[in-house]
Amino acid sequence: MGLLSRKASPQWVSVARVDDFQVSHKVIVGKKEYALYKLGDGVYCTQESCSHEYSPLSKGIIMDGEVYCEKHGSRFDIRSGKVINLPATEPIKTFPVKVEEGTVFIFVSPT
Ligand code: FES
Repeated sequence: MGLLSRKASPQWVSVARVDDFQVSHKVIVGKKEYALYKLGDGVYCTQESCSHEYSPLSKGIIMDGEVYCEKHGSRFDIRSGKVINLPATEPIKTFPVKVEEGTVFIFVSPT
C-alpha cells in the first residue's frame, strides 16, 4: 500500500458530542460534509448533500427513520441510504458511526 492510498483510507474521526444536537447536525471532515441523525436506536451518518441536486440533508425533515429533502421532496432511508421516492434516483452514502463516552465518531476518509 502506497503512502497516498494509506492517507485516503477511512478511519474513525471524532465529529461531535452526542449532546450537541437534537435530531440532525452537519459536520465537516477535511473537505467533505456529512449529516448526523439521532434516531431511536442510535446515531447515523450520511452524506450531507441530497443525491438529486445540492441540498443539505441535515436541514431536511426527519421522520420515521427517513430524511425528506426540502428542495424537491425526495425521501431517503437514513440507515441504508436507499431512495424512497423521486425525484432522486441515486441512494445517498451512509457511513459507520460509533458513540463512545458521549463522543460521536464516523468512519470516513480524513481528507
Ligand atoms: S435536491 Fe433533494 S430532491 Fe432535489
